[in-house]
Amino acid sequence: MPTILITGANRGLGLEFVRQYAADGWRVIATVRDPLKGRAASDAGAEVHVCDVADPRQVARLAGSLDGAGLDVLLCNAGVWGEHQALGDLDAESFLRVMRVNALAPLLLADALADRLVGRKLVAAVSSKMGSIAENTSGGDYAYRASKAALDMVIKSLSIDLAPRGITVLALSPGWVKTDMGGPSAPLEAPESVAGMRRVMAAASPADSGSFLHYDGSVVPW
Ligand SMILES: NC(=O)c1ccc[n+]([C@@H]2O[C@H](COP(=O)([O-])OP(=O)(O)OC[C@H]3O[C@@H](n4cnc5c(N)ncnc54)[C@H](OP(=O)(O)O)[C@@H]3O)[C@@H](O)[C@H]2O)c1
Repeated sequence: MPTILITGANRGLGLEFVRQYAADGWRVIATVRDPLKGRAASDAGAEVHVCDVADPRQVARLAGSLDGAGLDVLLCNAGVWGEHQALGDLDAESFLRVMRVNALAPLLLADALADRLVGRKLVAAVSSKMGSIAENTSGGDYAYRASKAALDMVIKSLSIDLAPRGITVLALSPGWVKTDMGGPSAPLEAPESVAGMRRVMAAASPADSGSFLHYDGSVVPW
């Protein structure tokens, strides 16, 4: 039975990933930062672990608390949008918090868990077109954009550093999706976006490592 670890799995895209992989017969390890919020993931069939990915000690503890079983896929999904992101209304602490969750945490998770990867040997992180420098035509949203651009660079370096270990590393773009973060005006429903990202991950080979791929399989320019 293939195994996947999914962060930020109590709502939104993370919970939808849990539902789809569990329904497909995968062993799903779901992480949530608040144990009281883990019910939906456990109801969907996941084993729930607590991890606030912004806290490096909790990331290290998570790695130590997993049983000996290998992971086929590490899916870094947890993310935050942030606040005070406009010129004239910036907040340094808020900016750094977004960087910790969106960019630093996936790096720490990959470093802590790379040795456990077996089988598929895939690390994927849910990035965003908002982090694409090439596609930034509207400015603003400094913390979120910078954090996802930084995440994309983390993914690229991981793809190079983990290649000798046979690990494939991808940045994924889910599209604009109806979740708490995406809001009600988003054109995509979570099941469609997640099904697309799952297809992209299933089709990825080592030759794709270091790519930034949209949920429909198209390449996103950095
Ligand atoms: N929705 C979109 O349109 C869209 C577009 C592009 C990219 N994305 C990316 O897709 C991913 C999932 O987004 P979403 O739309 O599902 O957002 P969401 O509905 O706001 O869910 C975010 C998830 O991340 C978790 N999380 C936040 N901070 C965390 C932390 N410090 N430690 C552990 N978990 C934490 C949340 O847990 P709590 O419930 O405890 O807060 C929640 O489970 C994010 O990386 C986001 O940037 C989303």
